[in-house]
Amino acid sequence: MTEPGKTKFQIDLRRYLRERNENRDLTRLICELAEASKYVINSIRTGDLGVAGTSNLYGEQQLALDVLSDRIIRKRLIHSGVVANMVSEETADIIPVSPDCEEKYSVAFDPLDGSSLVDVNLAVGTIISIYKGCELFQAGRNQVAAMYILYGPRTTMVYSTGNGVHEFAMNQLMEYTLVQENIQVEPRGSIYSPGGQRNKYSPGTEKFVRNLEESGAKLRYSGGFVPDINQILIKGRGVFLYPHLQDAPNGKLRLLFELNPMAFLMEQAGGAASTGRQRILDIVPGSIDDRAPVFIGCREEVARAEEYIAAEG
Ligand code: AHG
Ligand code: MN
Ligand code: MN
Repeated sequence: MTEPGKTKFQIDLRRYLRERNENRDLTRLICELAEASKYVINSIRTGDLGVAGTSNLYGEQQLALDVLSDRIIRKRLIHSGVVANMVSEETADIIPVSPDCEEKYSVAFDPLDGSSLVDVNLAVGTIISIYKGCELFQAGRNQVAAMYILYGPRTTMVYSTGNGVHEFAMNQLMEYTLVQENIQVEPRGSIYSPGGQRNKYSPGTEKFVRNLEESGAKLRYSGGFVPDINQILIKGRGVFLYPHLQDAPNGKLRLLFELNPMAFLMEQAGGAASTGRQRILDIVPGSIDDRAPVFIGCREEVARAEEYIAAEG
């Protein structure tokens, strides 16, 4: 399986996918997205940090980097030749690429999550959600793959095709080589990542967070969904929340581009992801810009959040 003299952990992404007999077209898609990340890295390091002068579907001001990253990834998806439809956090509509639903994949992606953190030099990421066929409005449990690329002190990529969660790091040749496979999170954690404003939490969420603090959990919140989730996956413990708020009953994070892919990865790693009332991956999206509250991480923490919210809202 692995070349003599090469340890398993020098194996590159394409070989790893091939050796696990992943579908050839899905392998091609995942490798194209990994390739796209090289150009995104370059745009982060050297690109214009200013505003693009446009805004996205959510009325959020788009940064030049959002638009540039979006364009880079769209081009690679089209170039892959295996995409039917694609939709991005930065575009208002689904973009048809090929009518050939049977053999191709549809992709929802957040090209640069946390982009407003680049100018203060904090870690940001790309989040990808992949379905078989043309339908993007289906429950997240039907994803065939999910992945993210984290542009931090190191560039790492984490993916799952439903057979475990595996981490790769970009080497000096800008190739992704395996760091660890079959990542698992523990049942309970010791870090918490509380998004949103505490004074707008519901009584159930407030009680959940107070319980975490009283149990000695450490607060770790960067404001970037990808590094905050990556920390829980790689350390193997913790819970992230961006809950329902008094003035935002659906929280902030987007179901298609942020919550479904991360929920898929977290469940594959033995964790859980809930709105506080239902499993994220069971929600059937009604529209591109659907948002949902989220509690994601160690399954006992998520279960406790659901308990408090059931009792106190
Ligand atoms: P994006 O930059 O793609 O709009 O996403 C930002 C998100 C996510 O990265 C993070 O968890 C959340 O915004 C942080 O929100 P607050 O700044 O309200 O904490
Ligand atoms: Mn985002
Ligand atoms: Mn974004």
